[in-house]
Amino acid sequence: MRHTVSYSALFVLTLLAGCAFKNPDPGPQHKMNVFIDSLINEMTVEEKAGQLTLYTSGWTVTGPQLREDYIEELKAGRAGNLFNAHTVDYAIELQRMAVEETRLGIPLLFGLDVIHGYKTTFPIPLAEASTWDMDIIRKTARLSAKEAASAGINWTFNPMVDVARDPRWGRIAEGAGEDTYLGSLVAAARVKGYQGDDLSDPTTILACVKHFAAYGAPQAGRDYHTVDMSDRVLRETYLPPYKAALDAGAATVMTSFNELDGVPASGNHYLMTEILRDEWGFKGFVVTDYTAINEMVPHGVVANEKEAVELAFNAGVEMDMQGGIYSKYIPELLEEGRIDGSRLDDYVRRVLEMKYKLGLFEDPYRYLNKAREEETLYAKELMDHALVSAKESIVLLKNKKAGNSALLPLSKSPKTIALIGPLADNQKDMLGTWHVAGDASKVVTLLQGIRETAPDVTVHYAKGAGFTGNDQSGFNEAVAIARKSDIVIMAIGEGHHQSGEAASRSDLGLPGPQQALLEKIHALGKPVIAVVMAGRPLTLEWMDENIPAIVNAWHPGTQSGRAIAQVLFGDHNPAGKLTITFPRNVGQVPVFYSMKNTGRPFDADNKYTSKYLDVANEPLYPFGYGLSYTTFAYSDIKLDRKEITEQGSLQVSINVSNTGEYEGQEIVQLYICDKVGSVTRPVKELRGFTKINLKPGESQTVSFTITSEDLAFYTRDMSYRAEPGSFTVFVGPNSAEGLEGGFELKLPDAL
Ligand code: BGC
Repeated sequence: MRHTVSYSALFVLTLLAGCAFKNPDPGPQHKMNVFIDSLINEMTVEEKAGQLTLYTSGWTVTGPQLREDYIEELKAGRAGNLFNAHTVDYAIELQRMAVEETRLGIPLLFGLDVIHGYKTTFPIPLAEASTWDMDIIRKTARLSAKEAASAGINWTFNPMVDVARDPRWGRIAEGAGEDTYLGSLVAAARVKGYQGDDLSDPTTILACVKHFAAYGAPQAGRDYHTVDMSDRVLRETYLPPYKAALDAGAATVMTSFNELDGVPASGNHYLMTEILRDEWGFKGFVVTDYTAINEMVPHGVVANEKEAVELAFNAGVEMDMQGGIYSKYIPELLEEGRIDGSRLDDYVRRVLEMKYKLGLFEDPYRYLNKAREEETLYAKELMDHALVSAKESIVLLKNKKAGNSALLPLSKSPKTIALIGPLADNQKDMLGTWHVAGDASKVVTLLQGIRETAPDVTVHYAKGAGFTGNDQSGFNEAVAIARKSDIVIMAIGEGHHQSGEAASRSDLGLPGPQQALLEKIHALGKPVIAVVMAGRPLTLEWMDENIPAIVNAWHPGTQSGRAIAQVLFGDHNPAGKLTITFPRNVGQVPVFYSMKNTGRPFDADNKYTSKYLDVANEPLYPFGYGLSYTTFAYSDIKLDRKEITEQGSLQVSINVSNTGEYEGQEIVQLYICDKVGSVTRPVKELRGFTKINLKPGESQTVSFTITSEDLAFYTRDMSYRAEPGSFTVFVGPNSAEGLEGGFELKLPDAL
């Protein structure tokens, strides 16, 4: 059937309608409203439910392919949005179906999990957070948007801003780590990068902040598991990064799979309406996670899918991802008066507004330009930035001195290196989790990177072991090449499938036979450098005790091997710092820097204090930790006053000197402790940081400004404010070291 009203005809009508008003230029917002209202007036209930429906495209060996039944839904106007449908050739055909073969011709949104790049793959988000560099992070998102947009995508399911403190949870790889303050800055930087300043610019894409809410705190680190926490913890620790993403303009929000206080997020009115809409004033739309509405049946809060739709709809959820049940039950529920028609229109309006803002009604093909796609994929600016980001993400965990010099950086003079391990000459696993469209054949492996960076070095390579099972048949070859080499580099860690979604682990050691291999090589007595690549903190206690140099490279993406080699051979001095605590063993988990003191803080001489019998309280590597090839000395902390008031501020300054032999960057960190509160406060909380660069012998005074806003928290009555009293401020190279000072906050009634 030909469509009776085409979107272009409506667009013209809207412009004419705009002219009829008293104000000669009613403004773009008004034009949009008139246009969308007229469109909604034309829509049937089925078409409205279709705009609230999102389906995935499948892939076959020959490329992307949409299921037959989805094609029918699409043409009938019952499927208004698709995801995983990328590449211009493919998406253009689907868009044509939507525009030319549906009754109203409403263009599709095309979503995709552009998590750390589209084709050009940047380091996994947890890695990139270790840069503490918002310019790098924003640029990664900007370039990822540009590349994905060139391939037909106008909506990414990112940023993932779930605060996560349990490395057993595989999705820790997708976020910024354990800290709320840092996580909020990263969230905002990513949103700004994806969306830019103007959504109608076809190199920008809609961001989707996820997974709302508290998905990062599943019990026992098991994915999709129950989340239960106090409202105080929810609001103070878990919610701020979502809010920061929305304040930065995030257009959409994704619900989480988990329940919170007994109600699954997709049916949670408190989260989706009271917090998101009423408190935060969110104007975009909410999409569920994959079949999350249907999953409320096994959650056990509804008896069937129809009830699930009613619950989700009335909780405030606009769009159903992949469940196919909004389109099935909304018409019936409306008919039965169980959902409200004007609310349905509001939901549809929010989705259509995004399509409008992207400019899709003006030109549904604006993201579908083949020439642009060809010139953008793997463009030089993307590959260059992927290298910068990968290098800056690398964290040097250990670099022990042997004699007068440290093992790293290696010299490029002729020598023999044994490169051993499952990640040494491996393209796919270096891409890490969620490398949705990333092409493994473009990845620079570590073997290639070393050969390129140090051509005079002879490299012998042996895989030695895999990531699973206990096949040790490769050990002998590895031992043989190690024996005939001057130095051994072990490229070990996790495969790409061992972190990310549905990849929780109860053992955080090196998976498979890698630990046995490492011990065997270590026993040869050669200098060993461990390059650990993983999507989460691993428990590296044995390694820390026995291996002189440890480089934590995460999964660095397309430029992996080049970035790591440039660090190993000193072309880049590592500066990354951990945004997640590395535990000594799984029993310490969760262990994070901003813990509470307890009523019985650790005392080595008193058994009845808070501790373990078999492991220290301190982690192996604390939050904020990371070494450089040079050394930095901190001295002379100064506070310009001893008191601040509600409106006032104080300056904290500290002197940082490069006391080593290399030029290097240092991330100087400021933490605060509120000594007495109406509720207990963490022992430390990050409240500022800055990245500086110093030449050998150079010093710099670094200053931070503290205001009462930095001291606010949810007080005993749940009001968010600072309380008067004494505070300690710490400035240093990580959360466990530094110099301290103190000040008082004076508030009017305490004067
Ligand atoms: C994940 C989301 C993702 C979605 C679409 C889900 O399984 O939890 O993070 O955006 O799939 O791919």
